[in-house]
Amino acid sequence: MYKIAVMPGDGTGPEVTVEAVKVLKTAADKFGFKIDLTEFDFGGERYKRTGETLPDSALEELRQFDAILLGAIGHPDVAPGILEKGILLKARFALDQYINLRPVKLFPGVETPLKDKGPDEIDYVVVRENTGDLYTGTGGFTMKGTPQEVAVQSAVYNRFQVDRCLKYAFEYAKKHGKKARGKGEENTLALCGKTNVLTYVYDLWERAFNEMGAAEYPDIRRDYYHVDATCMWMVKNPEWFDVIVTGNMFGDIITDLGAITQGGMGIAAGGNINPEGVSMFEPIGGSAPKYTGQGVINPLAAICSAQMMLDTLGEEKAAAAIEQAVTYVTGSKLKSLAAGRMGYSTAEVGDLVAEKVAE
Ligand code: IPM
Ligand code: MN
Repeated sequence: MYKIAVMPGDGTGPEVTVEAVKVLKTAADKFGFKIDLTEFDFGGERYKRTGETLPDSALEELRQFDAILLGAIGHPDVAPGILEKGILLKARFALDQYINLRPVKLFPGVETPLKDKGPDEIDYVVVRENTGDLYTGTGGFTMKGTPQEVAVQSAVYNRFQVDRCLKYAFEYAKKHGKKARGKGEENTLALCGKTNVLTYVYDLWERAFNEMGAAEYPDIRRDYYHVDATCMWMVKNPEWFDVIVTGNMFGDIITDLGAITQGGMGIAAGGNINPEGVSMFEPIGGSAPKYTGQGVINPLAAICSAQMMLDTLGEEKAAAAIEQAVTYVTGSKLKSLAAGRMGYSTAEVGDLVAEKVAE
């Protein structure tokens, strides 16, 4: 029995979350586990009504769950930053979800903007550190409002944060690397940094990476790329990548690039993972207000988030079945991943995946 907190959120979040839950329930029946869902209404509407984003009392409640399934956060009437900081980043930090796991996987039948690349080439994972870096809010203004105004925002990392993230990434590469998934090549972990300019922060990352790799993971090949070059190779030679590990800010940026190469926000999923605590899974696209309530938005990113949630909870067979079902649906059913052009409604796509999982 898994206790799952569901936060459908704003815009199209609720419609895609319904489909993710549909698939979860089907998988639970099929694979013999139970899920107990509790819904929370945090998001823009509640903020407008009560001024609350994610209160501390709610965080205490969320700690009692096995995982959190999030729809989307973002409301056209709420200034940018309030809900992101107040809900999404607050949960990530308070629950110490120190890994942001973002697969970049092109499913069959899905169009990619990369010429001559297909599902064999676009198939890797980014492990983004999720608690440090420019996201810590370390910095400030002096002389604000004057012509001499100074603004500072620091990239902050300590060895503990770097080590625990690297540990996760090496373990992930060991378990799910290319060789482990039958691709016949070495399991590889690539560090994405900027050691030529960020000579403190990425020096720390690089030393920790090489020390841990040499001492504990001699069988995992280690590559290093500067972040700018990473962007170039993600477009030109995505097949070079297996598992990429990087800091919070670079991870944020390169995973949007990764998402567009795998077909866009309709399919990109992410997990905010605390391996020792409560993790939160979300489609990485936004709340798409203009499509709200029309039943045209693609629920696959939400369904893939639920799939990652089951995988993280240890329901690996159920997770694999959902992945296969999504593969089937993109490969032989959907005309496109784009809202309104799928050839099916949001609910029908959920049904297609659920029916396949049930088979
Ligand atoms: C993401 C988003 C968030 C981030 C924003 C909404 C705060 O871009 O999940 O990638 O920067 O982490
Ligand atoms: Mn982002």
